Amino acid sequence: MKARSGFWISVVGLTLVAASIAVAAETTTTTAALEPTASDPALAIKGRTLYATNCVHCHGVNMVTPGTVAFDLREFPHDDHARFVHSVTNGKNNRMPPWGDILKPDEIDALWAYVLTGGKL
Ligand code: HEC
Repeated sequence: MKARSGFWISVVGLTLVAASIAVAAETTTTTAALEPTASDPALAIKGRTLYATNCVHCHGVNMVTPGTVAFDLREFPHDDHARFVHSVTNGKNNRMPPWGDILKPDEIDALWAYVLTGGKL
C-alpha cells in the first residue's frame, strides 16, 4: 500500500514538473514574439518591475483587472503618452493616487514602455 501511494505521488510530481516546463516554454515564446512591438524591451522590463511594486494591487497581474474598479491598462490608447504621464503623475478623479512624488519621470516612461506591451511581457 505504501509503495503504491509513493508511485502516485511521483506521477503527480512528474506531471507538475512537465506542466511547469510547458508554461516556461510558452512564456519564453510569447516574450520573444512580442519584443518587436514594445518601444524598448529593456525599458519595458524595468517598467514591469515597477508595475509589480506600485500598480499590480489595483491594476492586476499582467494588467488583467480583477473587476471593474481600476482602469484596464490593456485598453489605454498607445498613441497618448502625454495622457499617461499626466494621469500617473497627478492621479485621476481622487481614485487613482498621484505618483509624481514617488516615481521619477524616467520610471514613469519605463511603466509606459511596459503598458505598450499590453501586459504580455
Ligand atoms: C490604489 C489603486 C491604484 C493604484 C495603486 C494604481 N492605480 Fe492606476 N488607476 C486606479 C483607478 C481607480 C483608476 C481609474 C481612475 C478614474 O478614471 O476614475 C486608475 C487609472 C489609471 C490610468 C488611466 C488614467 C486615464 O487617463 O484614464 C492609468 C494610466 C493608470 N491608472 C496607471 C497606473 C500606474 C502606472 C500605476 C502604478 C505606478 C497605478 N496606476 C497604480 C487605481 C490605482
